[in-house]
Amino acid sequence: MKRTKIVDIFDPALIGSDVSVKGWVRTRRGNKHVQFVALNDGSTIKNIQIVFDMTRFTDEQLKPVTTGSAIHVTGKLVESMGKGQTCEIQADTLEVYGTADPEAYPLQKKGHTLEFLREKAHLRPRTNTFGAVLRIRSALAMAIHRFFQERGFFYLHTPLITASDAEGAGAMFQVTTLDLNDLPRTEDGKIDYSNDFFGKHTSLTVSGQLEGELGATALGAIYTFGPTFRAENSNTPRHLAEFWMIEPEVAFFDIKDNMDLAEDFIKYCVRYALDHCRDDIEFLSQMYDENLVARLESVLKDEFVRLSYSDGIKILEESGKKFEFPVYWGADLSSEHERYLVEEHFKRPVILTDYPKEIKAFYMKQNEDGKTVRAMDVLFPQIGEIIGGSEREESYEKLSKRIEELGIPMKDMWWYLDTRRFGTVPHSGFGLGFERLVLFVTGMTNIRDVIPFPRTPGNAEF
Ligand code: 4AD
Ligand code: MG
Repeated sequence: MKRTKIVDIFDPALIGSDVSVKGWVRTRRGNKHVQFVALNDGSTIKNIQIVFDMTRFTDEQLKPVTTGSAIHVTGKLVESMGKGQTCEIQADTLEVYGTADPEAYPLQKKGHTLEFLREKAHLRPRTNTFGAVLRIRSALAMAIHRFFQERGFFYLHTPLITASDAEGAGAMFQVTTLDLNDLPRTEDGKIDYSNDFFGKHTSLTVSGQLEGELGATALGAIYTFGPTFRAENSNTPRHLAEFWMIEPEVAFFDIKDNMDLAEDFIKYCVRYALDHCRDDIEFLSQMYDENLVARLESVLKDEFVRLSYSDGIKILEESGKKFEFPVYWGADLSSEHERYLVEEHFKRPVILTDYPKEIKAFYMKQNEDGKTVRAMDVLFPQIGEIIGGSEREESYEKLSKRIEELGIPMKDMWWYLDTRRFGTVPHSGFGLGFERLVLFVTGMTNIRDVIPFPRTPGNAEF
């Protein structure tokens, strides 16, 4: 008999037929006459209840059916009398694939804290919470590809190993095959990277943007979607050392087009999750955050506020609120400032633009005032910065002057500057932190709980 996934078993047309299900036991309870097993196979948050009539099974047969064990059951699907489920399976046959010693299996049925589960990241996908988060994460990845593909963007694969560290977005992880116990040295005592694998110093990328711009100024509109790495020692609920980023880049787009794209993009993803992951979102809402669905829906309904950094600073200064970090023109905003604007002042997402050039990357388009650049950060409730982007400086002169001012080695940047030497055009793009989007949609509060195997300072287990 062909296996039916549990997500498909609640189809009323199947009532009365024989079915075959396979999965992991969540709980078993009952008495000497009848035993009930809640089975989950990961295809849905829902369990199917299996009823064992103990005149047809022995205690010995049911004994290995404990929480965490893997079984195969065939039987008849019938309407259920019990509350909380529409149908159940009256078991005919039972096969045990793998047992799970109750003394050793860590996920017993009582609720575990998220902190405890982080220590068990190899098994936590089997919990309701992580099943829900990981299904939502997968659906959001699909939404992202659909959004861009429907709009004629091309998926560009940018390198993970890079020899330029020009983004300035954060500290980089070095990539080397040199023997760290016996490093080759140049005459002046420095490490001789000409003997390294790539013949030069290389690192893991912090962003695919610079290569993304090469794609956009050829294909017109591209997006990247891949892992990025930052070796900042920031132990916060919003930072990972390895995270996934989506970076669209579009030729002939100005900052206004870029803001429109960012707003449409996030709304599309949130709508997609509400349409495709309703059960999982409702489960998370019940467990952790009763306002989750309302918050997701309000983001869809409201237009994002668009505001300059300077006006944002004014609002913060006039708020009369004591912030941990001081607010003044020129200061980099921290998440308490961002969240004040979004959650308390405007009560909806905010796109902040035109930041001081000193706190933004070298490639952003310089404004006439000589002080600000055409940056845009999208700020979200609960999250703070979810997107960072800008219109790009397309003038070769202005860009190379800025590169010089900042002391970025020109020799590493020649290929990037060529986009401005040959057929340069106005263009714009942004980066969305995938895990921050998943955080928002799931209502989770720690970024370690929305990626299967988080990489953070001091933690690379699993
Ligand atoms: O603001 P960032 O640093 O921008 C860039 O990297 C640009 N190259 C993007 C572009 O214009 N193409 O990072 C973009 C986003 C942030 O808004 C945030 O959502 C996320 O990436 N992000 C992180 N997410 C998790 N952990 C970290 N350590 C992150 N650093 C940034
Ligand atoms: Mg940023």
